[in-house]
Amino acid sequence: MDVIARAVEAGGANWITIHARTKQERYQPGVHWDAVARVKSRLSIPVVANGDLFTAEDVAHCAAETGCSHFMIGRGILKNPFLAHDIRASRPLPALRQDIPTRTPDRLMLGIERYAKLTQDQAANSGFIPSRVKQWAGMVRDISDEAPRQLLKAVKHARTTSELLTMLQAQ
Ligand SMILES: Cc1cc2nc3c(=O)[nH]c(=O)nc-3n(C[C@H](O)[C@H](O)[C@H](O)COP(=O)(O)O)c2cc1C
Repeated sequence: MDVIARAVEAGGANWITIHARTKQERYQPGVHWDAVARVKSRLSIPVVANGDLFTAEDVAHCAAETGCSHFMIGRGILKNPFLAHDIRASRPLPALRQDIPTRTPDRLMLGIERYAKLTQDQAANSGFIPSRVKQWAGMVRDISDEAPRQLLKAVKHARTTSELLTMLQAQ
């Protein structure tokens, strides 16, 4: 990993993001934070740590292990769309703890409506976004048991993005 990371830096990259697992390991438990720490200690560009960050505690642990202050989160934010707020709320600086939104199904619906509007023009086809939202509904867990059910009920029959938006706005 060191050789690749140094080559990326020498190639002019502004930062490097490391999902600290091998291709063979895929999502198997255990992320190699020690390898990220080694790369971080040898590069001058920012190193973004990625892998199994599902809670604010995971991020704090990763920061302590790697020395990184930048993090990339994939499945964690799909499971809990409020994770970034949780991380902010866990930070020591009081200013960062202000106006943390309430984690309610309604707030989730607003977030999905915003996602659909923001990505509407980039979608591969009219059914792409509804199917992503239904996939997401299956992953959302850490808000309330009610949220995924309410969301799925709202979007279940949406075939196109405009149908999806109409259904969400009808909630
Ligand atoms: C829905 C989804 C789509 C992804 N798409 C890509 C992709 O297009 N290219 C890629 O390199 N990694 C992709 N990944 C892998 C993530 O970038 C990330 O490295 C991996 O999920 C580990 O991070 P996590 O534990 O925070 O999920 C995807 C992951 C998810 C969950």
